[in-house]
Amino acid sequence: MATLEIKDLHVSVATDDGAKEILKGVDLTVRAGETHAIMGPNGSGKSTLSYAVAGHPKYEVTGGSVTLDGEDVLEMSVDERARAGLFLAMQYPVEVPGVSMSNFLRTAATAVRGEAPKLRTWVKEVKESMKELEIDPAFAERSVNEGFSGGEKKRHEILQLALLNPKIAILDETDSGLDVDALRVVSEGVNRFRASGESGVLLITHYTRILRHITPDFVHVFAGGRIVESGGSELADQLEAGGYVKYTGSPEAAGV
Ligand SMILES: Nc1ncnc2c1ncn2[C@@H]1O[C@H](COP(=O)(O)OP(=O)(O)OP(=O)(O)O)[C@@H](O)[C@H]1O
Ligand SMILES: [Mg+2]
Repeated sequence: MATLEIKDLHVSVATDDGAKEILKGVDLTVRAGETHAIMGPNGSGKSTLSYAVAGHPKYEVTGGSVTLDGEDVLEMSVDERARAGLFLAMQYPVEVPGVSMSNFLRTAATAVRGEAPKLRTWVKEVKESMKELEIDPAFAERSVNEGFSGGEKKRHEILQLALLNPKIAILDETDSGLDVDALRVVSEGVNRFRASGESGVLLITHYTRILRHITPDFVHVFAGGRIVESGGSELADQLEAGGYVKYTGSPEAAGV
């Protein structure tokens, strides 16, 4: 069973004024079958955590460890991490002009699965997943994310999730900018992914509305580069009612 274990993680980013420490000792364990929600103020380091786990070169790990099933993730290249079963749906998905969605998906699936999926079954698989996510088949021939609306990009992140079937999925604000119907469709996609019980989900969000569709087992409050409180799904409602002032002292001091 998959386990992502993050221990005392410290991460810095290079800025014009030198290295700036953003993550200041993150401890978090996500096991297969579990869904964790991370909520926290803007600028507290949530996306930095997801980038650091995924291996973004801008973020330097200065301390701590990240393991997936006991294997050292920090020693792995970005594509080794993907092959090992890590998946990141980015807060701001990148556009890749000139690469069609269908080519991109097949290349990604080939890399992650270790062999090219058989064309006939692959076409069927993609069609079914697109249908489930209510994505127009015409998108298959469009360049990756180019000119997609915010909500369309988020839907395509979940399409990748469905086709790549990772062990651990980190979804960074996948719910942001979705209309009510898209939120339902995307949530159903995540719930289908969770249903096997063989994968773990780390859901970064600002809103409890997605947590009504995808019930988390754990909710963590992220502030000042660390997890400052953890609880069950009821914690999300408390946050919605009370905000983060309790954890940050003042609304302005929420970041790092
Ligand atoms: N490349 C960078 N250069 C300078 N500062 C950075 C860089 N990347 C992140 N930071 C800073 O690190 C802090 C944490 O950013 P991060 O994107 O992780 O926050 P977040 O919790 O995801 O916020 P949001 O809820 O707004 O998405 C911010 O103050 C941000 O400006
Ligand atoms: Mg973010």
